[in-house]
Amino acid sequence: METSVKVAVIATLGLYICVNLAMAEVEKIGVLSQCSWAGLYNFGDSNSDTGGISAAFEPVTSPYGMTFFKKPSGRLTDGRLLFDFLAEYIGLPYASAYLDTINTDYRHGANFATGGSTIRRQNETIFQNGISPFSLDIQAIQFTQFKARIVDLWIGHPHPAADASQLQRPDDFSKALFTIDIGQNDLSVAFRTLTKQQLRATIPNIIDEFASSVQQLYEQGARSFWIHNTGPVGCLPVATFYIRNPNPGYLDRNGCIRYQNEVAMEFNRQLKARLIRLRSELTKAAITYVDVYTAKYNLISNSKQYGFSDPLKICCGHHENDVHVFCGKYGIVNGTRVRGDACKNPAKYVSWDGVHMTEAANKWVANHALNGSLSDPPIPVTHACYKHL
Ligand SMILES: *[C@@H]1O[C@H](CO)[C@@H](O)[C@H](O)[C@H]1NC(C)=O
Ligand SMILES: *[C@@H]1O[C@H](CO)[C@@H](O)[C@H](O)[C@H]1NC(C)=O
Ligand SMILES: *[C@@H]1O[C@H](CO)[C@@H](O)[C@H](O)[C@H]1NC(C)=O
Repeated sequence: METSVKVAVIATLGLYICVNLAMAEVEKIGVLSQCSWAGLYNFGDSNSDTGGISAAFEPVTSPYGMTFFKKPSGRLTDGRLLFDFLAEYIGLPYASAYLDTINTDYRHGANFATGGSTIRRQNETIFQNGISPFSLDIQAIQFTQFKARIVDLWIGHPHPAADASQLQRPDDFSKALFTIDIGQNDLSVAFRTLTKQQLRATIPNIIDEFASSVQQLYEQGARSFWIHNTGPVGCLPVATFYIRNPNPGYLDRNGCIRYQNEVAMEFNRQLKARLIRLRSELTKAAITYVDVYTAKYNLISNSKQYGFSDPLKICCGHHENDVHVFCGKYGIVNGTRVRGDACKNPAKYVSWDGVHMTEAANKWVANHALNGSLSDPPIPVTHACYKHL
């Protein structure tokens, strides 16, 4: 009995649910049934961290979380993240952070993203510039361990007190959606430490490491990937705040740092090309590339038209005399102690804290990026199990 159960579970681990999809069929997406996702596994940085860095280091404090959760939730925004809207869109609960231990639920997946994560391992600690030690390859290793321990719990030699009731079933991993949203911090570190030429030369290496992590997840049974590209990092107010008398052309018409966005776009071009190649290497995987950059840049370029104020102003934090007091923190301005407080109406702002978007902006981006209009192949996240040929 025990042996046959074991064989059955191992057999289903090798199963994949991806269905081949010819280009002509993409146009008929409406007639295809939605994927029945058994879970959601996410890898990334603060754009999708739902409590990882709070669990591993210091908790995110108030006023983060004020709009939706009404208390700090470990997310670096006032409410929900793009990733939370994605979970809602496919009908799954918000994913618990893998590193969290209290009140977590891993029946429908887990979130390995942590604020400050990079694709490549960095040679600095989190205490210098906030770079997380949980780089993408480490997150893939954590997933590997997570899965191995779950398999052991169900079919190996479980500890008598083991409780699998809050965990995904082993045969559900290949029926889960794997999402990745990372890259921005690799670029931020590079802007800080490399010349422009060095930076361009290093992008292929960053992309290779990204592909290795996708491959590692694939080897662990991941079959459906929904991969966000990186956003317009040159439009982050924390960077643009300090610019005085820029040379002509340094900023674009929105006030964003042009060359930083060009680097982000180059990163995205190479990421997309590599993912298209990966489709032929990882033959059982459905890999969707999602152009979140375009959604974010569109919102920043037309913020007033969409009901938002100046996209380079922040809702939370205090910036004065080149002193930046981060959201929820204290600092000294003119010899006076100042707190980085929140505005009254976060929904009017694109940027929450100078680095992360508000819930309202995240929702706007979700409305434009999840329905397939910015993805390659052009399928919505509900259909990301269909393999593009
Ligand atoms: C970190 O240091 C090692 C050893 O010097 C080096 O090989 C590696 O490229 C460095 N990583 C980064 C991201 O700079
Ligand atoms: C700092 O000084 C400037 C100029 O005197 C003043 O406008 C500003 O309100 C002061 N800020 C704080 C936080 O006291
Ligand atoms: C996706 O949503 C956006 C924003 O509502 C809309 O403009 C676009 O036409 C939609 N695309 C598809 C393919 O449904």
